[in-house]
Amino acid sequence: GRAGGAQRVAVDLTRIPMLADLGTAALEALAQHGHSRPYEAGAVLVDFGDPTDDVFFIIEGSVRVIVRTASGQEVILNDLGAGDFFGELAAIDGAPRSANVTALHRSRVCLVRGAAFLDFTLRTPAFAHRLLRFFSERLRGKDER
Ligand code: CMP
Repeated sequence: GRAGGAQRVAVDLTRIPMLADLGTAALEALAQHGHSRPYEAGAVLVDFGDPTDDVFFIIEGSVRVIVRTASGQEVILNDLGAGDFFGELAAIDGAPRSANVTALHRSRVCLVRGAAFLDFTLRTPAFAHRLLRFFSERLRGKDER
């Protein structure tokens, strides 16, 4: 059933370093309506301009993030693997997807609803601070994610 699915997703989410020590009870709120999904190599998980807002946590496998420059050229931004996540921008600001994200290998990913991710962030200061650090590192160029 749905509750069992959310519990499984919460357990999967403990494999994400940024979430691991927050406890499955806290993660169950994040996992509400969430689900785990396999993708074949080459599958497009998110495409430019999509109006979706799920956040994707990579449990197994790897994906490639491709962005478009102002002149329309497509550039590989980064490859992400198990323990990484993406799609947080649309969850936070509601804007269309800023990148194409395609599976490099067969991958298993937990999707959580953007609203659940934002709500969890606002209710979990330890995680909110981690997310701010994550964005700070990105701005400083220390971390390509
Ligand atoms: P979102 O815009 O929701 O969907 C595409 C995702 O690609 C985006 O969220 C981020 O997770 C990732 N992404 C896009 N642009 C960048 C960037 N400049 N730096 C890091 N990650 C990015």
